[in-house]
Amino acid sequence: MRVFSANLLALLFLCTCACVLYVWSRLENRLEIHKRKVQELGFKSVHVERSSDLSAKTFRALLAVPAVQKLYFSNRIDFRNVSDGNPVTSANIHYSTSGSEMKSTESEPADQIIEDGIFWSERIEHHLPVAFSGEHARAWRHKALGSRVVSLEPGCGRTSNQLATFSDGTKACVRYGINADQVQGETLSYYLASLLGITNIPPLVLSELDGENEQWASVRRKIDSLQWSGRAIVSLTEWIVNLTGVVTPEPLRQESIGLHPFQEELGNKTMAELLELMQWTDLILFDYLTANFDRLVSNLFSLQWDSRVMERDTSNLLRTPRGDLVFIDNEAGLVHGYRVLDMWEKYHSSVLGSVCLFRRRTAQRVIDMHRSRDTRTRLLQVYRDNEPLAADLGFLSEEHARILQNRVDTLYKHILRCKGKYSQL
Ligand SMILES: Nc1ncnc2c1ncn2[C@@H]1O[C@H](COP(=O)(O)OP(=O)(O)OP(=O)(O)O)[C@@H](O)[C@H]1O
Ligand SMILES: [Mg+2]
Repeated sequence: MRVFSANLLALLFLCTCACVLYVWSRLENRLEIHKRKVQELGFKSVHVERSSDLSAKTFRALLAVPAVQKLYFSNRIDFRNVSDGNPVTSANIHYSTSGSEMKSTESEPADQIIEDGIFWSERIEHHLPVAFSGEHARAWRHKALGSRVVSLEPGCGRTSNQLATFSDGTKACVRYGINADQVQGETLSYYLASLLGITNIPPLVLSELDGENEQWASVRRKIDSLQWSGRAIVSLTEWIVNLTGVVTPEPLRQESIGLHPFQEELGNKTMAELLELMQWTDLILFDYLTANFDRLVSNLFSLQWDSRVMERDTSNLLRTPRGDLVFIDNEAGLVHGYRVLDMWEKYHSSVLGSVCLFRRRTAQRVIDMHRSRDTRTRLLQVYRDNEPLAADLGFLSEEHARILQNRVDTLYKHILRCKGKYSQL
């Protein structure tokens, strides 16, 4: 009997211990979830504060943006610890170039969207088709240079842009540019995108309007009537059919919290929505580097007098029926954009600050260009190797090349900050 009572007591004791342990672990879980929510809310409130500044109607209020941004990043990250303890490495980077149709309308499993804290997962990347492959671009450039232009007509925006038809019936947008800076900006932006592995810009090639150039012989009169100089170098960009407008996605509007690696929020999205957001993350990095204000940034500026601007199509951004974003009209990038940086930098920084999610390959290229400090050399090389008229059109000035490298460095630091902030979550 005594033995039986002792066993019963021991059993009761064990059960009590198990119950205490269970209750304790549940409490810990709840505490963790609560902590995370509080962090997110704190983050949201700062962002909303920043956003409301942006939507303010006066330019004076817009000038306050960087200060708030500083507050937003401060006291949260030990910068040196991030770079020492969590280096972003190139290990395990593998990109599929195959892609597939973006048709799914079902939500994607939340835990398979993000990898290593701040990167779109390889699983999602795998579904992203290459918009314009290197091979396609080379073939198009070759064909475009060897084809006669048989007509020039409106259809590519301003009169300084004309829709050209080649003798085989295919088309291109010809950009004359108000000055050589614009043609340079357009061309160098294209080659910078190719350095970054961003394939969303249609193939581009330069051509001289020169009287000797047989390519323009059939439209010589039209060129004269447009008052285009015979010595000018113009850019030709492949004409893409069936493009439609693109509205800025909700997470990137000024009233939103931005695009951050929160599984809970991304988990509600379909594959098509995720793939579009992924392309936007590339676009924002690209426009930051080139200081191109003629897309999302000009919308932010317009908010001062047009509170619904974000609900309309974004300038110079289009979409193919397959869902590829097409970044057109990059004339403001690199040259003109750098010249007017004083005016636009607040907006560029603000847009960049709203994104902490990246394509691994794009981030890796930025990291490489930061570490080797050779952005100018790389850009010059890819430009010279692919563009026969590179020497005639010219390249970035020393000053602009320095600005580009500085922007690469700033972007690198931004990526590290994001990594420090989100990889422990
Ligand atoms: N490569 C292209 N393929 C197809 N359509 C194009 C292409 N480039 C330009 N377009 C068409 O021409 C329009 C104007 O193009 P673009 O932005 O280059 O010129 P713009 O003079 O700056 O005009 P906007 O002031 O509308 O921006 C685009 O919205 C698009 O409809
Ligand atoms: Mg335009």
